[in-house]
Amino acid sequence: MTTEMLHFTPEEIARAADLLRQGETVGMPTETVYGLACDAGNPSAVKKVFAAKGRPADNPLIVHIADIADWKPLVKEIPPLAMRLAERFWPGPLTIILPRSEAVPAITAGGLDTVGVRFPAHPAAQALIRAAGVPVAAPSGNRSGSPSPTTAAHMLADMDGRIPAILDGGSCICGVESTVILLDDAESVRVLRPGFVTPEQLQTVAAHVTVDPAVLARVEPGTVVRSPGMKYRHYAPNAQVTLVEGDQAHFLAFMASHREAGEFALCFDADEPLCKAAGIRCLPYGDTDEARAAAFFSRLRELDDAGAAHVYVRAPHTDGVGLAVFNRLLRAAGYDIVSTESSEEGEW
Ligand code: TXA
Ligand code: MG
Repeated sequence: MTTEMLHFTPEEIARAADLLRQGETVGMPTETVYGLACDAGNPSAVKKVFAAKGRPADNPLIVHIADIADWKPLVKEIPPLAMRLAERFWPGPLTIILPRSEAVPAITAGGLDTVGVRFPAHPAAQALIRAAGVPVAAPSGNRSGSPSPTTAAHMLADMDGRIPAILDGGSCICGVESTVILLDDAESVRVLRPGFVTPEQLQTVAAHVTVDPAVLARVEPGTVVRSPGMKYRHYAPNAQVTLVEGDQAHFLAFMASHREAGEFALCFDADEPLCKAAGIRCLPYGDTDEARAAAFFSRLRELDDAGAAHVYVRAPHTDGVGLAVFNRLLRAAGYDIVSTESSEEGEW
């Protein structure tokens, strides 16, 4: 199959929407990352999404809507806290998990009795969902285990020949997937996956916000987790990745002993001139949390293209959007993290 590249014009949105209604899959731009979209209510279309990604069947898909009114039919009920969160953060990078209704097939939900719903902010995603006239299931558009695509070209690199079309909506603004939450009770939110909507922001709507321990810790094989995606190795480029914690001086000192061919630093912008002066091959990924979130998935792909064998990433802090970047890098690194300040090397 040839993968057609579509553009954000009325005709090509209509073509992409037709494909969705016919039970096909389409690459869909969102403000977070590109997704692989299909009709959420069509089990055979959902099967194609799992097959194209090589995704384990127990990992549920997020269902996307383009109007808050389309949420109600997908879930058993919408508690007041969930509605307040939606009104504050939608359209935007927040996925809210609630018990699902019969309208969501079991296969879409990875066999769970819940469904995560999101109303994306990207105008092309909204136009596509509205034109299709159905709720749209969409996991990130990468092959399972690879970095999420933040451009149409990245998605094509993973999916060429495996899906009929990709709608090109430009580069994703956030660059990191949505914040995934569930409600523990009437006033409590639990973050299963951090994203651009931060725990600090959620706290302005919910009385209690907790971050699930699996966000920052390794999930041991066999553990029952609230979000099946947490247990898989994720976001990994071909290169081996090590996350390096410590301030600039410690990072540079550590990198001074990693200057072999194939060794690269993924550093903050301010580190770049110092790395270069010390003969350390490096690529900068930003100087703010938001810039790093937008850049790191594509930087990991660029480092693969540059032939990197081992990438040492200067670890971001874990406040605000930094938590989302840290969480993805930790998984890309397979939990290989080095603390340069205590000079202890090894895995958690
Ligand atoms: O920003 C995003 O969320 C992107 C765009 C395309 O919307 N989508 C995305 O989907 O990242 P995916 O499938 O790559 O990641 C969804 C994560 C997985 O870790 C999955 O296990 C979790 O959310 N998830 C989805 N539905 C869930 C549910 N009902 N219960 C628990 N976890 C759920
Ligand atoms: Mg994903």
